[in-house]
Amino acid sequence: MTILHIDSSISGEDSASRAITRSILDQLTIERGGADVVYRDLVADPIPHLTLDAFADSSVIDEFLASDTVVIGAPMYNFTLPTQLKAWIDRIVVAGKTFQYTANGPEGLAKGKRVIIGLARGGFYNEGSPAAALEHLETYLRGVFNFIGIEPEFVAADGLAISPEQRAESIKLALGETVRLAA
Ligand SMILES: Cc1cc2nc3c(=O)[nH]c(=O)nc-3n(C[C@H](O)[C@H](O)[C@H](O)COP(=O)(O)O)c2cc1C
Repeated sequence: MTILHIDSSISGEDSASRAITRSILDQLTIERGGADVVYRDLVADPIPHLTLDAFADSSVIDEFLASDTVVIGAPMYNFTLPTQLKAWIDRIVVAGKTFQYTANGPEGLAKGKRVIIGLARGGFYNEGSPAAALEHLETYLRGVFNFIGIEPEFVAADGLAISPEQRAESIKLALGETVRLAA
């Protein structure tokens, strides 16, 4: 069993999404002793923006395809994902490897993986709320993983910029949820 653990927050030890992915990893490794964990910190070790030449390097997609479970920390920056995480997505959405076009439309080829995403957002983006139309993090990640054949699971800490009390409460709830996820 191989778990790929990815973080993309620029906030180091203060990061909520990093705390969530760490907790998910703790739960998964307790549950499945002996799992191999591959860690990618996309801030400490960024992947360059996509270029045509970059397609010659398959190391990022090979690492993704070799994993059974992928745990991703995804903070919301300017209503969407960090560019560091987008650069990683750009390497794993590859025609012929993770999706293909058929006579019936696109087909995902990365089926069977478990993808768990720890979201951290400063505000609230619940359906029907005034800010919902600006939510391009969870919606984007769900769409892109669905496209390659995966239904991702989410653990979200929201309202982190509202007040210190709200932040503490939201992180506590999200960390609690990670226990349920691994069960
Ligand atoms: C550069 C930057 C941009 C941000 N943009 C948004 C935003 O558009 N919407 C939002 O709800 N929160 C925004 N936030 C707040 C973050 O989502 C929040 O601080 C969250 O905790 C980030 O995750 P992290 O703690 O893992 O870094 C932004 C934070 C930073 C640092």
